[in-house]
Amino acid sequence: MLDNLEKIALDIKQFDVSNSANLENFRIHFLGSKGIVKALYATLKDVPNENKREVGQLINSIKEQAESKFSIQKEIFENQEVIGNKLDLTRPAQDESIGSRHPLSLVRNEIIDIFNRIGFSVSEGPEIEDDWHNFSALNFPPEHPARDMQDTFFIEKNDIALRTHTSSVQVRVMENSTPPIRTISPGRVYRNEAISARAHCFFHQVEGLYIDKGVSFADLKQTLLYFAKELFGEKAQIRLRPSYFPFTEPSAEVDISCTICNSKGCNVCKYTGWLEILGCGMVDPNVLDACGIDSKEYTGYAFGMGIERIAQLKYKVNDLRLYSENDVRFLKQFTSGF
Ligand code: PHE
Repeated sequence: MLDNLEKIALDIKQFDVSNSANLENFRIHFLGSKGIVKALYATLKDVPNENKREVGQLINSIKEQAESKFSIQKEIFENQEVIGNKLDLTRPAQDESIGSRHPLSLVRNEIIDIFNRIGFSVSEGPEIEDDWHNFSALNFPPEHPARDMQDTFFIEKNDIALRTHTSSVQVRVMENSTPPIRTISPGRVYRNEAISARAHCFFHQVEGLYIDKGVSFADLKQTLLYFAKELFGEKAQIRLRPSYFPFTEPSAEVDISCTICNSKGCNVCKYTGWLEILGCGMVDPNVLDACGIDSKEYTGYAFGMGIERIAQLKYKVNDLRLYSENDVRFLKQFTSGF
């Protein structure tokens, strides 16, 4: 009996299972319902009682050897099947899809870079503002229409609101530092407008502020010309038209020569050859005084532009809604060093 068991153990070791048909034969031969292991257990009843324990353990061990050889080989075949039939190791790897920067971030970063080069720092402030920083310190009369519910999203009646421009950040900078001040404030702003291709209830601005002794309108104009040429190329021209803002006096609206038709006239510039890009002016002395800066000693200029508007001209995107819909087909089209 013991000799027989040893022989069976040897058979298990030597059985050829090099293909799956053989492996199946192995299973049937040793582990099947009419197989050797089953038969061995059946002989156990004829073994004298004093040997039963020992023989039983030997049969168990034979069963384990057969089972383990079977399962190891089965796993090898299964892995080979996956590699052989389903995985093509020669196939080129799939491209990782890399994200792209949002076009508004690209334009914002480019604007920041242009002003950094002439000494402007970046300042940021809260999007939820009080009346003082968004309106009163900026010389808005109490009855000014921009304070109206139509334009402003109020959070707490008439005092706390979503900022309508980033001029509010400049008030904070003026209150907390002494001239010379040379800073730009990029950020998101909110206005209560119906959403359409040409208007949105939020958009992005970069506003600039320069305060020192003897700052003049000529400095403002030269800075903006530099900016336009850096952003749109050496051929870019600007023109200033008189305008009105409560916080600047005098104020102007700035147009840039149409980048789309080279000022020849097209439907984007409405055949004028010029495109409006920003508002600007000399900081009203009332604003300087309200922010703790002596208006007899210092003068300054300020300007503000919409990032969407610049992006629209740079990338010829005419529907404002595209910027906030997060459609990757739109977003993936933009690349730049910024
Ligand atoms: N704050 C103005 C706006 O939001 C832009 C502006 C800034 C105009 C500075 C003049 C000077 O429209």
